Parts: sequence; structure tokens; C-alpha cells
Amino acid sequence: MNLRDLSISEDGRTLWLDMTSGRRLQIPALQVRDLCDCGACRHANGQRLIDLAALPQDQRIAAVEVGVDHCSAIVTLLPESHRVELTFDRLAQLLSAPEAQLAGRVPEARLWDASLPESRFPKARYADIAGDPAALANWLVGIRDYGFALLEECGSTTGTVLSAVELFGFVRETNYGRLFDVVAKPDPNNLAYTGLGLGLHTDNPYRDPVPGMQFLHCLEASGQGGESLLVDGFRVAQDLRSDNPEVFEILANTSVPFRFTDSTADLRSNRPLIEIDGQGGLVGVRYNNRSRADLQLSPQQLTAFYQAYSVFGRLLHDPTYIISFKLNAGSLFVVDNRRVLHGRGAFSGGQRRLQGCYADWDALTSYVNLHQ
Ligand SMILES: [Fe+2]
Ligand SMILES: [Zn+2]
Repeated sequence: MNLRDLSISEDGRTLWLDMTSGRRLQIPALQVRDLCDCGACRHANGQRLIDLAALPQDQRIAAVEVGVDHCSAIVTLLPESHRVELTFDRLAQLLSAPEAQLAGRVPEARLWDASLPESRFPKARYADIAGDPAALANWLVGIRDYGFALLEECGSTTGTVLSAVELFGFVRETNYGRLFDVVAKPDPNNLAYTGLGLGLHTDNPYRDPVPGMQFLHCLEASGQGGESLLVDGFRVAQDLRSDNPEVFEILANTSVPFRFTDSTADLRSNRPLIEIDGQGGLVGVRYNNRSRADLQLSPQQLTAFYQAYSVFGRLLHDPTYIISFKLNAGSLFVVDNRRVLHGRGAFSGGQRRLQGCYADWDALTSYVNLHQ
């Protein structure tokens, strides 16, 4: 950090940092106090020992000096006369944060559309990531940034999809089981278990929380059709926000009920199709025509919502956004289920068998944080 000078505002409420570039950055006194990681404020394991709400709120900076190592600032705060040491590295990181916080759930997201060539799909071979934490982290970064990835040469052993998740995280068990088979079967409780094409959707919007990721492993694919389709829901949502902000607002502010029932479960949720955080960053997209439940809105709200829904739905199915590929036997794909919609073309003849499972998102980012 190219720091020229450290000073205190007249009222002691602000720490000024004058950079060699001429920029002046500021940190409120209460934040300086909040940042303290001395032995009284933080345990050696990094967890906080003091609740911010329990501290005097009228923090004032009495003095600031540069540490003997020339790499940190020592700030004395009243009324506690507490000394806070802040390294310049930490300050530099903090001061770059406000923009990152605007970026939503996946600040690193690289948005894509149909022009993404297959050569740029995040991809790895099972054997290459199974024994190599750095290679595995690299593959996971692809899922984080693109919202999907392929894994090839996984073999055709049942349960491999669980082993793939267990390389870095934990399987999310649901009423469909730890593992589910996607094969055409009689009396299916879900259209996924038929030979019909499946429109683009995210999985299980009726769960709370929705599964963070879906893994699908192709064991057999000898029939015709059944190609996989993917759409970057964040890309579509962002385009919608810039081209049609009124529609975006309606979708971000209308809770939509979803429901799944069979003889053993009655799952319901009520959430917007586009979920944003307090700063407007994208958190998630939900879209699943099969499990949308009855809307209870005023006639005016219904009219506006139906219009917004059809704009969004048509955009999500616009070919300029869709990538498609044939998942071969022995390959597996993963989607960020809160961002990327998946679907499949109809299939017939031969055998088509897939196995899938869900996993939570946080294990992925945790593994990347540890190994990168
Ligand atoms: Fe699905
Ligand atoms: Zn402290």
C-alpha cells in the first residue's frame, strides 16, 4: 500500500489515509475498533470474543502512529484507551472491498451465453483431480466462475457421482435419496423419469434452501437425442436488468410459490424468481415450470407478474443464451443450481441412464479458499 500520511479528523471520528497517488481514504473510528484482533478481542482461532453491540458506540481516535516495522498503524481509541494495530496489508484489502460487496453471491462470476465455445467449458478428467488438491481446486474454480463444469473419464460404476462430491464436500440428502437414478420408469413421480424433453429449469425450487449444486453422471447413453442444455441465469438476469429494469424489479420483488408433493413429501417454498442481496447483487435464479404453485396476488399484481414471467421465460429459452452438448457415458456435469438452468432434449431408443445427487455450495468455496 502506497501510503503517504496517516491522520485523524478533527472530531476523532475518522482515520484518514493519504495515498501517494493523491487519493484520500477514510475509515470510521468504530470500524477501527471493530477490526481489533488483539488477544482480548479475538481468540487465537480467529473467532471474535467481543460483540460489537457491547462496545461504547462513541469511539474516537485519540492518536495514530506508524508501527516500528513501518508496516502497520497503531491507533489509540477513546473512551476505552484501546490500542488497535492494523497492518497496511489488511487496510489495503479492506479498502478494496466495497466494490466486491456489490457483486452478489459469486463476485468472480464470468457470465456467458451461446457464444461460449466448447473449448472453454471448464473441464477435467476424474483421475487428474482425484489425487491432486490443486487440480481439484482449479476445477472447482471453473464451477464457481462459470456455474457449471464437466468431468470426463469417470467410468460407469454406480455411485461415482457421490465419490465426485466427496472429493471436496458433502452430499445433500433429500427425499429423492442420497443418490437418484434418472431413467425412464413406469408411473414416474417426476417428468425427469420419462423420455420427454425437459425445458430449462433449476432443480427443486420448492426446497428451503434449494440444493446448491447438482451432479449428474451419465452411465449409459446409447439412444437418440437427450442432449444436455444449459443457460447462465445470471447472464440473462443481468441483461434483463439493463434492457428491461421494470420487469427485473417485478421478478426480484414478487415471491412465487413452488410445491412438490407425492406420498412421502409435501415441500413448499415462496421465493422470488430472481433473488438479489441488499446491494442489488445477484444471489440466485429460480425457474421451474413443473413445480410452480398457485399464485395469490391482487389482479393488478397478477397481470404485471404474468407479463414479467413471460418476458423472463422467453429470454431464458432464447437460443442466443443456450449451450448444448451430448453427455457421453462416463462423463459427469455439475451445475450451480442457483445460477445455471439445465434441460435436456427428448430421447428415444437404446438405453439412457444417469445418476445424480446434490451438494451444498459452501463446501466448494471452502475447498477453493483452502487450496488456492
Ligand atoms: Fe433437473
Ligand atoms: Zn483489542
